[in-house]
Amino acid sequence: MSSFKMETVNPRQVVLVTARGKTDSLGRTLQKDNIITLSWHTPLSFDPYLYGICIGKKRFSCKLIQESKVFAVNFIAHEMKGMALYCGRSTGEVVDKFCKEGLTKEECDSIDCCRIQEASAWLECEVIDQLETGDHILFVGKVTSKSNKDDRKRLFYMGNDRFTSTL
Ligand SMILES: Cc1cc2nc3c(=O)[nH]c(=O)nc-3n(C[C@H](O)[C@H](O)[C@H](O)COP(=O)(O)O)c2cc1C
Repeated sequence: MSSFKMETVNPRQVVLVTARGKTDSLGRTLQKDNIITLSWHTPLSFDPYLYGICIGKKRFSCKLIQESKVFAVNFIAHEMKGMALYCGRSTGEVVDKFCKEGLTKEECDSIDCCRIQEASAWLECEVIDQLETGDHILFVGKVTSKSNKDDRKRLFYMGNDRFTSTL
C-alpha cells in the first residue's frame, strides 16, 4: 500500500477571512485589518448557525482573532485566485493586504471588523469557543449576520498552488 497523499482531502473551497486587531509598530500600537486565505473551514450547526475556521497557531491572524473574538468569512469567486494566493503567501505582520488592488475594505454590519467588498457572500461571526487541534486552532463562530451578493463560480484549492472551480 502506498502512503497517503495529503492532496486527497482536496479540492476544498477557498475563503478569505478578515480580522481586526492591535499590533505594535515602531513602538506604537496600531489598529490592523488583515486577511488570511483558508481552505480549512466548515458549517458546524444550523440552529444556532455556527461556522468553524481552522487557523495555524503561529499565524498572525490567529493572534488577532484570539484577541478580538470576531471574524468575517468572505466567499470569493474563481477570478479572485490571485488575491487568494497573495493573502495566503504574505503576512499581515509586515504588509497591509488591503493595499492590493481588488481588495476593498468595507465595515461589517454586526461586528467590529471589516469584510471584502469584492466577495460574493459573507458570514460575520463572534467566537463562542476555540479548540486546540494539534498545530491549529478551530474557532467556533456564531453567525451574527449573513448575506449573498452574487452567484459567481467559486474558488477551490487542489494543493501545490493549483485551483479549480465549480461547473
Ligand atoms: C489556498 C490556501 C489555503 C490555505 N488554507 C489555510 C488554512 O486553512 N489554515 C491556515 O492556517 N492557513 C492556511 N493557508 C496559509 C495562510 O493563508 C498563510 O500562512 C498566510 O500567509 C497567513 O497570513 P497572516 O500571517 O497574515 O495571518 C492557506 C494558504 C493558501 C494559499
